[in-house]
Amino acid sequence: MSTLKAVRGTRDMLPPETALWNRIEATARDVFARYNFGEIRTPVFEDTALFARGVGEETDIVSKEMYTWEDRARAQSEKTQTLTLRPENTAGVVRAYIEHQLGETGQLQKLYYIGPQFRRERPQKGRYRQFSQIGAEVIGPPSAGSESPLRDAEVLEMLATLLDELGIKGWTLELNSVGSPTDRARYNDALRAALVPVVSQMCADCQRRAVTNPLRVLDCKVPADQPIIETLPVIADSLDEESKKHFAAVTTALDAAGVPYTRNHRLVRGLDYYTRTTFEFTHGGLGAQNALLGGGRYDGLSEAIGGPKAPGIGFAMGEDRLVLTLQAQEAAAPQVPQKVDAFIAPLGDAKDEIKLAQMNAAALVLARELRHAGLWIELGEGSFRLKKSFDVADRTARQIVILGEDELQSGILTVKNFSTGVQTKVPRAELAVFLSN
Ligand code: HAM
Repeated sequence: MSTLKAVRGTRDMLPPETALWNRIEATARDVFARYNFGEIRTPVFEDTALFARGVGEETDIVSKEMYTWEDRARAQSEKTQTLTLRPENTAGVVRAYIEHQLGETGQLQKLYYIGPQFRRERPQKGRYRQFSQIGAEVIGPPSAGSESPLRDAEVLEMLATLLDELGIKGWTLELNSVGSPTDRARYNDALRAALVPVVSQMCADCQRRAVTNPLRVLDCKVPADQPIIETLPVIADSLDEESKKHFAAVTTALDAAGVPYTRNHRLVRGLDYYTRTTFEFTHGGLGAQNALLGGGRYDGLSEAIGGPKAPGIGFAMGEDRLVLTLQAQEAAAPQVPQKVDAFIAPLGDAKDEIKLAQMNAAALVLARELRHAGLWIELGEGSFRLKKSFDVADRTARQIVILGEDELQSGILTVKNFSTGVQTKVPRAELAVFLSN
């Protein structure tokens, strides 16, 4: 029988790597709490129409990358539906905002999420078919201040703080404005006109995009096309006064807060819902997939999926890419693996099954006592020879506690500290305090 393996583009996360994932998530939750964000959990699959309308039919995500299936009706009361594993979470959050009438509160909603997303992309380093995003959205009625450029600046300043607290070194914030839908229509016309004389020299994808969605030409990575793209008009020249003022207010606040950024005129992002501010934080160590996170403003998304006016801004970080970046940094400056406080080594008589079981049970009781006192404990096995217990303990723990017949009766345990080599007799009542030092 052929062996079964994880599906292409998906991975198992094992210890100790999962500890790094947990550390990243704990830091993110801590930072989100300080900025007064609450957690939202939306389903992993949604009605396909949500993504078609929200993210946009013409985008790569919707046209090529979604995991979509016909979900058969199980009862008369149900209809066969087309469902999709979420390729991103902004559309789901906005759907939930509308469904639960969160706009009725009149307040800004500040929501964060952590969870898996699915895209059928070509797998490579930093790009998977199941990946995890840590994201957040700030959304609300205009009367709650949801359109204010201060919201954009606050989200970007929070991201700079989060990346710094995660210990990510050398990130770059790339910033742009894609303007209002009218600005973008004007820019699309300008692009189309500028592409006419040059498009025949460009790649097949660009030739198609020049007709369907000229903005996407700016995402082209084909080296031969780059000199042509450099000559195309930039979107900044198509922005109206309002969009220009909004962008200037974002950069003024970022300058005041000391958050560094560079303007990238080509940053138009691969999802159709963006308006005005768009951004990515990139990292040189990631190679081709260099975006640690991406986001922007989406002032018309709620209306596009049938909701009230609810401007918003948000981002999603690729958690897999955060892990890769931190692992690369840690490989350069390796950390000492963390060891548990103590290893309990019961000394049983391997030939006497009853005594062995009693000694193992006594060790479990001692481990339980110490764990309840807050210590990190690894539990040995009474049938091991003493030398084997020492070898295992030395690899996993700072100290070893020997528990034999004598120790059990006298209540005085022998503790050896591996780094000092010192052996000490400790009364059971004082053991937890002794081991924690
Ligand atoms: P996105 O740029 O499509 O935006 O994805 C955000 C981040 O998710 C990327 O910068 C990258 O780090 C990570 N990512 C995307 N695809 C993959 C993949 N196949 N493998 C590993 N990581 C990946 C969004 O998803 C928007 N919903 C962000 C947003 C929130 N905009 C406003 N609010």
